[in-house]
Amino acid sequence: MKSRIVLHPSGKSVDCALGDTVLGALEAAGYALPNNCRAGACGECKLRVRSGDFDQGVVLDMALSPEERIAGYGLMCMAKPVSEELVIEWVSEDARPKLFSPRQSVLFVVVHKSICAARVAELHLRPVGPALRYWPGQYVTLGDDGAGVPYRAYSMANAPRPDGEIVLQVARSDEGGTSAWVHDTLEVGEQVKINGPYGSFVGDPTVDTPVLCLAAGTGLAPVLALAEAALRRGFRKPVTVLVSARSAADVYGRGMLSWWHARHRHFSYHVTLTREKREGYHHGRVDVVLPTLLPDLSRHTVFAAGSPEFVDSCLATVRKLGAQDALIHSEGFYHQNALADEASGLSFING
Ligand code: FES
Repeated sequence: MKSRIVLHPSGKSVDCALGDTVLGALEAAGYALPNNCRAGACGECKLRVRSGDFDQGVVLDMALSPEERIAGYGLMCMAKPVSEELVIEWVSEDARPKLFSPRQSVLFVVVHKSICAARVAELHLRPVGPALRYWPGQYVTLGDDGAGVPYRAYSMANAPRPDGEIVLQVARSDEGGTSAWVHDTLEVGEQVKINGPYGSFVGDPTVDTPVLCLAAGTGLAPVLALAEAALRRGFRKPVTVLVSARSAADVYGRGMLSWWHARHRHFSYHVTLTREKREGYHHGRVDVVLPTLLPDLSRHTVFAAGSPEFVDSCLATVRKLGAQDALIHSEGFYHQNALADEASGLSFING
């Protein structure tokens, strides 16, 4: 028996073969539903089912509470339709990832802080309440109204975790502002408020092409999150990350990148230094190095994140190498000084 899963309110539907999960059927049809553990343990794939019956399988109460069950919610990674039709709530009308509504003033505790590169601090934040739901590649804003520290945008550098911990990487800006507060004042154990998630620099889990990620500076943060999520869900196509930095002292993230490379044969990464020649690194800008690594990008999905200049140069390069516009995603981080309350802040533009 085949079931029909209807996405409310669009009325679009997908077929689900007997024994398939709702998540599997949605993904097979090109609909991206956030997910993480795919085993009923994290709650990421929770949706409300408006009508129809499904076998929920064995899931953890912490991922789906008895109250949520009564309210009609289910975990789609484990849910298997058992009626002819299952109507689920699906806010967006197309096959793009469904973005989560941003939340305001979500309380987190700084559980860890370290300096991971010459000018980059890494914060590990744990939520006091429920985890913030987000897509890898998205960002939050962090600041402190009480202390006059303006809110600034920082990408999550990790894929969503069951404990809700998020990792933010904050580059020290010459103008001071929020980044100076993070580097010099904010301490482990303090509580902070964040807003988000925001942004649409998100990976499509249904993508079935090789992937190239280009990152400079803290543009590496969303790339790390996207790569972690893709590898965790068993993405099998080649994934190549190219990191550009001025000098070796500016490079961070090599631990995770090396670990992924050791665990996943199809994952590789390269670091190129633009102002230093050093063994074990490439030398030169992305437009010089990339053609030697991947001369044909006609089948690649490309992600590029960093300063607008870096992103522009990457886009020009990947287009020259055959990348198709529909498969190019970019996020430029820029310093915005136009407004007083935005002075020295890091903002984002999506492309
Ligand atoms: Fe974790 Fe469904 S993906 S509960």
